[in-house]
Amino acid sequence: MRRGARERAALVPRLWLQHFATTSLVAERDRAVVGFLIGFLSHDRPSEAYIHFVGVAPDARRAGLGRALYEQFFALCNQAGRDKVRCVTSPQNVGSVAFHAAMGFAVEPGEVGDGPVRAKADYDGPGVHRVVFVRRT
Ligand SMILES: CC(C)(COP(=O)(O)OP(=O)(O)OC[C@H]1O[C@@H](n2cnc3c(N)ncnc32)[C@H](O)[C@@H]1OP(=O)(O)O)[C@@H](O)C(=O)NCCC(=O)NCCS
Repeated sequence: MRRGARERAALVPRLWLQHFATTSLVAERDRAVVGFLIGFLSHDRPSEAYIHFVGVAPDARRAGLGRALYEQFFALCNQAGRDKVRCVTSPQNVGSVAFHAAMGFAVEPGEVGDGPVRAKADYDGPGVHRVVFVRRT
């Protein structure tokens, strides 16, 4: 397993599926899972929701599935009275950065990088920089 894939797998231990299923989504094709989104309504911030992880199978990408999962989650947020969605991604994950830009997320100001998209330094621990996204639902 490549390093990026290993890091992403580590982001989805079973507890997410046990405790956040109500606000998480699955996309199926021919009865097989081809995409999923793990999200939740913030416990501490009553107007916010958070997307912890989204994944689409490599052979199903760039066909609108990620967008459909996000839009379904935004609708769920609206119904629950949450008007802001947050998420983060690794600055190395250029596909994810492009996806979130296409989905209308703004990037919170950061210090790491020299392009228009900068990551917040040490956001998830020493040396673990993150691009921080926010969007109105
Ligand atoms: C990021 C990811 C979920 C996108 O899913 P997807 O189904 O391919 O995305 P969509 O086809 O719905 O694309 C939605 C928009 O994002 C853009 N986009 C998606 N992937 C992109 C990429 N790699 N580069 C540039 N733009 C991209 C699309 O062009 C589209 O824009 P448009 O609607 O304006 O034309 C998918 O690439 C993935 O699973 N990556 C691995 C896991 C990951 O990195 N998750 C994010 C971190 S939590």
